[in-house]
Amino acid sequence: MKIAVFAGDGIGPEVTTEAVRVLEALDLAGLELVEGDVGGAAFYKHGHPLPPQTLEIARASDAILFGAVGDFSCDHLERHLRPEQAILGLRKELGLFANLRPARVFAGLEDFSALKPEVAGAIDLLIVRELNGDVYFGEKGIRTLDDGRRQGWDMMSYTDAEVRRIAHVGFKAAQGRRGKLCSVDKANVLETSQVWRDTVIEVAKDYPDVALSHMYVDNAAMQLVRDPGAFDVIVTGNLFGDILSDQASMCVGSIGLLASASLNDSGFGLYEPIHGSAPDIAGQGKANPMATILSAAMLLRHSLGLEAPAARIEAAVAKALADGVRGGDLGGTASTREIGDAVLARL
Ligand code: NAD
Ligand code: IPM
Ligand code: MN
Repeated sequence: MKIAVFAGDGIGPEVTTEAVRVLEALDLAGLELVEGDVGGAAFYKHGHPLPPQTLEIARASDAILFGAVGDFSCDHLERHLRPEQAILGLRKELGLFANLRPARVFAGLEDFSALKPEVAGAIDLLIVRELNGDVYFGEKGIRTLDDGRRQGWDMMSYTDAEVRRIAHVGFKAAQGRRGKLCSVDKANVLETSQVWRDTVIEVAKDYPDVALSHMYVDNAAMQLVRDPGAFDVIVTGNLFGDILSDQASMCVGSIGLLASASLNDSGFGLYEPIHGSAPDIAGQGKANPMATILSAAMLLRHSLGLEAPAARIEAAVAKALADGVRGGDLGGTASTREIGDAVLARL
């Protein structure tokens, strides 16, 4: 069981270190961790945010634990050299099209949500975000028009085949949960979304046991704060899923709590917190490592089939929160290391 560990930039290394400590504490037989450089850190060392040797480590591994990439000192670089290309490149190169972003309120954290506690307490949802298409990977450019105006453009598109495979993931996830799937699009304006909606309706015929609904993304953003408990599984495109999952994190209490899995057809996966490199708190020991620790649990479950240790990690995080362990993101003072220690103690 070879796990590639790509810590990246900013708080990436800080939170990944704690997740690795948790994995090592489990003392799983045959577990091997191999580190690789990604993001701005890789650019400064190797001249590229996703160097070939890192991609090789990824391909030779059974799963990837990823921290975060992003470094403002690289924002002037050509786009293909920017840190974010590391995560976008891994998603594309490895065919990681299905991004699972679960959000639920931990017992005792209802008061930490940005919503009223009784509204927050009902949250138990899963965002299934398409990760290989949409406006993220379309042709793009910056051009100067004949009259001298500078114009940026990005092509948004989805083929029915791309929608079909993520729709199946959404329906299957709903079957394993409360049997409700909400497809989020903008079909009242975008042709990309029209193909999305038509295809989801077609795929629904294979899943008569799942209750399918459709919602425009603007309404979904509103319903996510009005009555988030009404959602079970949300399936949506790359851009809308990016935005709605950050929003869902504050409904739950903090972006430092939301984990994710990015899977391909064969069950290979990359696991990362949904947050970024958080340059505003990097290097200060202020980051909450729980999202990354919970991502490691998802890795054990989805890629290695190790349900028992995955559940153990999740229970240890839940217990630490129930016992009042809080970082700055939840109004407390516990440092990244102290939160890691607290989870380890309860493991
Ligand atoms: P961000 O998620 O890094 O930070 C947003 C806010 O949340 C910041 O105030 C930050 O301090 C806080 N925060 C995030 N994670 C936290 C944690 N674990 N504990 C406590 N507080 C936390 O988003 P941003 O500021 O928009 O982006 C910063 C950089 O990260 C950018 O370069 C961006 O491109 C990159 N980014 C990378 C990923 C990724 O690697 N998958 C994801 C999102 C953003
Ligand atoms: C995420 C991030 C990435 C995305 C960026 C860093 C490319 O925001 O994983 O949510 O937009 O997918
Ligand atoms: Mn994001």
